[in-house]
Amino acid sequence: MNIILIGFMGCGKSSLGIRLAKKLGYEFCDTDQMIEKESEKTIRTIFENEGEEYFRNLETSTISNLIGNMNNSVLSVGGGLPIRKGNGDLLKQLGHVIYLKTSKETILKRLSGDKTRPLLSGDNKEEKVEDLLNLREPIYEMAANDIVITDNKSFDDMISDIIKLVNIPE
Ligand code: S3P
Repeated sequence: MNIILIGFMGCGKSSLGIRLAKKLGYEFCDTDQMIEKESEKTIRTIFENEGEEYFRNLETSTISNLIGNMNNSVLSVGGGLPIRKGNGDLLKQLGHVIYLKTSKETILKRLSGDKTRPLLSGDNKEEKVEDLLNLREPIYEMAANDIVITDNKSFDDMISDIIKLVNIPE
């Protein structure tokens, strides 16, 4: 049994994932952290030096390598990973996919001052979030087995929503 968390940057995949894994006694892993550890570079440096396409290839090979090698884990994946064709199917093979759906307003609040996301750097952050969110929301919805709304919800509420959806006794 694995739980896969997908959603836009700043939706809380990692902070929730760590707490959910702890509650279930599962391992927690995160594709961005795995990529940074493996390449010994930050995501920002990979984007700057090798470009986005190279990073997307790393994301796809990271989840491909997890198939058959991950159990009783919560996996959080980078916000753009489900967008690439084929990755949605790989995620469903890995486990029960939950989309953490978050409004633009909450995302902007959570990411104010953030310098780690290359796709949102520079001016017009609001416009960038809006455009990407419009493009990605339908894809997240298709890639997910279930959707959990995160706006104004506590971690405990979201954890019990997820536990009910994936049918694990609390
Ligand atoms: C990205 C999201 C980031 C990271 C990279 C690209 C995206 O992960 O993978 O900056 O395309 O949405 P988080 O969703 O964990 O911020």
